[in-house]
Amino acid sequence: MIVRSATLNVMMNAARKAARGLVRDFGEVEQLQVSLKGPSDFVSSADLKTEKVLRQELAKARPAFGFLMEEGGAVAGSDSSHRWIIDPIDGTTNFLHGIPHFAISIGLERDGEVIAGVIYDPIHDELFHAEKGAGVFLNERRLRVSARRKVDEAVFATGIPFKGREGHKEFLDCAQAVMANCAGIRRFGSAALDLAYVAAGRYEGYWETGIKPWDIAAGIVMVREAGGWVTDLDGRNGMLNNGEVVAGNDHLHKPLLKLLQQASGRTPAAD
Ligand code: IPD
Ligand code: CA
Repeated sequence: MIVRSATLNVMMNAARKAARGLVRDFGEVEQLQVSLKGPSDFVSSADLKTEKVLRQELAKARPAFGFLMEEGGAVAGSDSSHRWIIDPIDGTTNFLHGIPHFAISIGLERDGEVIAGVIYDPIHDELFHAEKGAGVFLNERRLRVSARRKVDEAVFATGIPFKGREGHKEFLDCAQAVMANCAGIRRFGSAALDLAYVAAGRYEGYWETGIKPWDIAAGIVMVREAGGWVTDLDGRNGMLNNGEVVAGNDHLHKPLLKLLQQASGRTPAAD
């Protein structure tokens, strides 16, 4: 039997509740009111509504905790140790294009460390949940990163920068180095699900730069609880601050990191 903390239950219930409206809106995606937030960066009314439900549910259960939200920004709580890190729709571009691959992501940070995460893909009813020290699960099934050990058998996911994002040249250099050595690269369009899929052993690793804390907070604890590794491009723990993320199973994180460091002209991390 899975033993979950009361806090994780709060997070899972909030995600399920917020997802109801989101699924309805996805069905009517063409009628959504869409406003432009910046180049290639759309924010939909569904995004705002979902975030509102998540915030209400989480604040009701833990009124003292602070928030860091994609839409609403940072809101300090009276408890300065705890903070919810929320992405109401990770995969907004997919959502707006009617592509059924997006998720709600909720991370819980304590004193700067993410200690619990929920990522919910409502279209496939896949609820990934993790707590530090207690494992990671997909619905009721415990997850473990994949056992593949060879780069040439590995599938890696990534995020491709687009108009308005920096790092196009560096991305192409990295992609070239990785594609020449692995079994395939995927770009599914949700960083949160990319990390959850690494935790689930669906692919061996994932990397991206220019990413925000709400894209990756929940996924970081998932990969680690599944026995994998998550670092920034320097091999350190700076992901939430510098927007770089390299995740992988226990065998392939290091080889992936080395390929990326060589391709981007970084000093390889010490062995
Ligand atoms: C985006 C997705 C995408 C990643 C981008 C993110 P959004 O988040 O996670 O996979 O490549 O870097 O901005 O805009 O859909 O919430
Ligand atoms: Ca996002």
